[in-house]
Amino acid sequence: MSNRAPLPPEIARRRTFAIISHPDAGKTTLTEKFLLFGGAIQMAGQVRAKGEARRTRSDFMKLEQERGISVSASAMSFDFRHYRFNLVDTPGHSDFSEDTYRTLTAVDAAIMVIDGAKGVESQTRKLFEVCRLRDLPILTFCNKMDRESRDTFEIIDEIQENLAIDVAPASWPIGMGRDFVGCYDILHDRLELMDRADRNRVAESIKIDGLQDPKLADHVPPDLLAKLREEVAMARELLPAFDRQSFLEGHMTPIWFGSAINSFGVKELMDGMGEYGPEPQPQKAAERQIASDETPVTGFVFKVQANMDPKHRDRVAFVRLASGHFERGMKLLHVRSGKPMAVSNPVLFLAADRELAEEAWAGDIIGIPNHGQLRIGDALTEGEKLRFTGIPSFAPELLQAVRSTDPMKGKHLEKALMQFAEEGAAKVFKPMIGSGFIVGVVGALQFDVLASRIEVEYGIPVRFESSQFSSARWVQGPKDLVEKLVNVNKQHIATDHDGDIVFLTRLQWDIDRVVRDYEGVKLSATKEMM
Ligand code: G4P
Repeated sequence: MSNRAPLPPEIARRRTFAIISHPDAGKTTLTEKFLLFGGAIQMAGQVRAKGEARRTRSDFMKLEQERGISVSASAMSFDFRHYRFNLVDTPGHSDFSEDTYRTLTAVDAAIMVIDGAKGVESQTRKLFEVCRLRDLPILTFCNKMDRESRDTFEIIDEIQENLAIDVAPASWPIGMGRDFVGCYDILHDRLELMDRADRNRVAESIKIDGLQDPKLADHVPPDLLAKLREEVAMARELLPAFDRQSFLEGHMTPIWFGSAINSFGVKELMDGMGEYGPEPQPQKAAERQIASDETPVTGFVFKVQANMDPKHRDRVAFVRLASGHFERGMKLLHVRSGKPMAVSNPVLFLAADRELAEEAWAGDIIGIPNHGQLRIGDALTEGEKLRFTGIPSFAPELLQAVRSTDPMKGKHLEKALMQFAEEGAAKVFKPMIGSGFIVGVVGALQFDVLASRIEVEYGIPVRFESSQFSSARWVQGPKDLVEKLVNVNKQHIATDHDGDIVFLTRLQWDIDRVVRDYEGVKLSATKEMM
């Protein structure tokens, strides 16, 4: 990496990242402040998080619904200083979902938000582990310092121990709760003071000549100043200093302390993302690695979202550009079908609204409206036959039967289910025998999410019920053998939304039996997203 020529400036200024957190830590509030300081929205309102139900939708939708500001779900782009930030939303609900996993394949870094009083919570840990699988660099924001929080060393220790990562303080809090006055910026020797009067104002920043600078006493009460000096001295002795390389390799996380709701510490965090965050990283394909500064445009679909606009039953495929300079109207090769595709109405998700993307660069996320041709995992290139890897498909761990509680609407249910299957929100199986559908997910809450989406987006009331099956396996093998297997085991056979054959069962014994009796047939727990 170090010997490589610098990236072209347009690519080098891009930072593509997600925010991960446990519900209620302050992700929505932080997102909103990012947009505010990125000039994407004019005024931040009060964040009101109420109940689990709203978390079933993306947090950006939550913003949209609550504030009446128009933000697009899933990805938003805005400028901050000379950087272009692409913030990709991770679903807000507390259950682990495939969607989250895939979203994290499209970013180069993550911001982990923790609540200063609660520390590392369960969902934070899970999402962190996903980031670690990809060695994503992580910046940490310890939020809600305006409330009673834990001791700073204790918070840092907990992150180090719980997540097995080095933590380097980028700032140090001065006081906490009611006495919280601000932070000492360790990386730049600055004093950042919180403005309690105006929540949307950027705090005052005072250049300080080290911790012994007498100027500090003008702003910090004597007892807090003594504590600050002592703690920072201790931190410098006991904790590792920030090392960008270690951070970029995913071994170290810099931590900022702040209060999102008071807009405090947010700008410093954004500066941190700009200054230290990774440039668009190379992406892996089965054939080779794609560097972001390669001239030809390449990209992959990491998410498909239906019904973004209820008036049009459109779908938007979210594409992470891996390389090149994309211009509107370009003809790209849709590698899976082998067909050319004129991308004439791509959208860039500038937070103000969906906007036509005239151009985009490696690292950017563009939305391509389509009628179902684009699927998760699909590659778009200028001709090269690439297959991007690392976009996982999960074996469904929970299977349930679904039916409409309104018998008149049974027909529409199939359409709705197929749409969700194409989005990658669930696996949908149509058994050969019987008229219902079996839905497979990886986390139980996904059933609730689906039920509510089917009701809201399609007006179909549905019920999920336990099914006689608990495992699904994709069947592959020579045509005649597969046909034989299907004919003999009709009660176990279903097709997925692509028409591929799936073997459903409750017993491992059945799977072993098929493998034994049909030599040459493979039963696999996952299917490549291709
Ligand atoms: P989430 O997306 O991670 O779920 O969190 P969200 O931003 O919705 O914030 C969850 C709650 O925490 C909200 O309070 C929000 O106002 C509050 N919050 C966010 N940042 C801070 C902060 O820096 N300090 C304090 N004290 N609170 C913060 P709520 O009670 O659910 O809603 P509301 O009635 O306060 O609006």
